[in-house]
Amino acid sequence: MNNAFVIFGATGDLTHRKLMPAFYNLAHEGNIPENFAIVAVGRRDYDTEKYARLVKESIARHSRFSLKEDIWERLKERIRYFRFNFLHDDYCRLAEYLREIDAEAQTGGNRIYYLAVAPEHFATIVANLKKKCLRTNGGHSRCMIEKPFGSDLRTAKELNDQITAVFSEKNIFRIDHYLGKEMFQNIMAIRFANAIFEPLLNRDHVEQVQILSAETRGVGARGHYYDNAGEIRDMIQSHLLQLISLIAMERPAEFSDQEIRDEKVKVLRALRRYSPDEVARYVVRGQYGVGDDALAYRDEVNVDKNSPTETFVAMKLFIENDRWRGVPFYLRSGKRMPVKATEIIIEFKNAAYRGINAKNNILVIKIQPEEGVFLRFNAKEIGARHNIIPVKMDFCQNCEIGFNSPEAYEKLLLDAMRGEATLFARWDEVEAAWEFVDTIREAWKNDVPPFPNYRPGAWGPAEAERIVAADGKKWLVLQGGENEDL
Ligand SMILES: NC(=O)c1ccc[n+]([C@@H]2O[C@H](COP(=O)([O-])OP(=O)(O)OC[C@H]3O[C@@H](n4cnc5c(N)ncnc54)[C@H](OP(=O)(O)O)[C@@H]3O)[C@@H](O)[C@H]2O)c1
Repeated sequence: MNNAFVIFGATGDLTHRKLMPAFYNLAHEGNIPENFAIVAVGRRDYDTEKYARLVKESIARHSRFSLKEDIWERLKERIRYFRFNFLHDDYCRLAEYLREIDAEAQTGGNRIYYLAVAPEHFATIVANLKKKCLRTNGGHSRCMIEKPFGSDLRTAKELNDQITAVFSEKNIFRIDHYLGKEMFQNIMAIRFANAIFEPLLNRDHVEQVQILSAETRGVGARGHYYDNAGEIRDMIQSHLLQLISLIAMERPAEFSDQEIRDEKVKVLRALRRYSPDEVARYVVRGQYGVGDDALAYRDEVNVDKNSPTETFVAMKLFIENDRWRGVPFYLRSGKRMPVKATEIIIEFKNAAYRGINAKNNILVIKIQPEEGVFLRFNAKEIGARHNIIPVKMDFCQNCEIGFNSPEAYEKLLLDAMRGEATLFARWDEVEAAWEFVDTIREAWKNDVPPFPNYRPGAWGPAEAERIVAADGKKWLVLQGGENEDL
């Protein structure tokens, strides 16, 4: 746990909005170790006092706990600002400074380098961290790296080669911050700690699985990044394929970081890779146009006026293994949707009972904004006749007033300090996810649909209906409450 935590990009948005508030929340809960220092690396002409003033403002604005002076003062004592241009300055000067910090904070030469910088700088920084002067006597050297990890399989491989030339796999912590979310972690608990769910999650009992990730917002200030990424790379390659691997994986022999990730990667490898014809059949993309009070995607800041980038994807996936063969997995992810919701909806097969056509059981794992579990099952309607009606149980763990879920980054920072890698993407997971996504993007290359093709507030283009309608199904959504099917 004792670490010098070195943040490259310490004056950036991520550090101010997520990392520093997360460190404050950890401090609030007594989770900052005794021997610990944050070295904030930035090129701006600040000193530690000035930097700390700005960090304090960010914490006051973004932390889930209100700022308490005594907690802040103790955290502030651990923060040092180091003025350094990571493209031009001499890394031996940084090394010298880190040695001083090691001695002062008694961090035992343990270092975590956090790359909170634009992806084009990842390789340069990592290559420089290889310098002899940065070696310590003893202590670990870890690297936390933000998403996106490459922009396709080729670039991801290049980046991975550069990083693994300096850090071993066990010291690389590839962040997919969704994995730090409370309900992401809860998926394994719900599945494997309940005898009433796990034995049923397979082709014998499951009719279909739907995964929804809907945002009401548009691309906002992220146009520069998003226009080069699109929904499939920004959301599906990382967060949603992680979600699928967690809901579909086998029970690991042990719940260790290696074995959990061994099972997850098997799911990603079992995803059917589509031919171009299958992409046309099973994948639909969309881009939002202008709305009553919303800009069209192409009019957003830093977005190309003729952008071919998708802001919505709907698809059917097949997991070709013994557990899931034949069970359709449907996925929808998009911006400017009617509701904000991330959830996994599992519909079970029909259970015949006295010739009555009862509704299928539904299990929903709600990831956000509500965190919880919804279950629909059948019971006899009160009365003399033998009618069967669906009844519902809805558990929401963050709906209670005063409940305050930890932010994803709190968990991730703490785990990296402990060397616990379960909630970070291993290289083979990243690789398999890119392989899947690249085949789709390859098929899209020469053919852009007539964008824009949906209005803000719609569930994507009308064509998305055909993905489920072809199997006689409908898209389902629980949160937002508009769906009478649930
Ligand atoms: N922001 C988020 O919520 C978020 C979410 C998920 C992933 N990410 C990823 O996190 C990374 C950082 O994102 P961000 O939004 O924080 O970006 P950002 O606000 O643009 O911050 C970039 C940081 O890099 C610094 N920098 C650039 N060139 C430098 C140099 N030569 N020497 C020293 N410092 C230099 C900038 O310093 P100046 O302040 O001096 O320009 C700034 O501190 C990106 O990879 C992004 O994709 C961000």
